[in-house]
Amino acid sequence: MVYLTRKEHFNAAHKLYNPAWDRQKNEEVFGKCANENWHGHNFELYVTVKGNPDPETGFIFDVKKLSKIIQEHIIEKLDHKNLNLDVDFMQGKMCSTENLAIGIWNELLPHLPPGVTLHSIKLYETPRIYVEYYGD
Ligand code: NI
Repeated sequence: MVYLTRKEHFNAAHKLYNPAWDRQKNEEVFGKCANENWHGHNFELYVTVKGNPDPETGFIFDVKKLSKIIQEHIIEKLDHKNLNLDVDFMQGKMCSTENLAIGIWNELLPHLPPGVTLHSIKLYETPRIYVEYYGD
């Protein structure tokens, strides 16, 4: 089994705010991320698929095609967007990087061709903070 990763990038705005709590509690829990007028991140997205190399190509999957699928179905929806307001699959959820990684997995999965197995979504919110999701 070989693991193949494509890295993509997007910029997006969000805020972390639980409407069931007052502003003070939101600021206690989320700090700067509760800022009422939004803030942005430079996200780095790592999509890893796994499989056995095709004997004719030596590839698990054409990585240019993988990039195109990620661009069309994920980056187009997220880049230069407000994650809380503009992104259909984040509606009604807390807009954390954890939930975003799960949302990206669920969006991407149906668009991968048969025989290509999604292994993980790794999402950097800052150079020093990232989350990983393996589908369970
Ligand atoms: Ni943030």
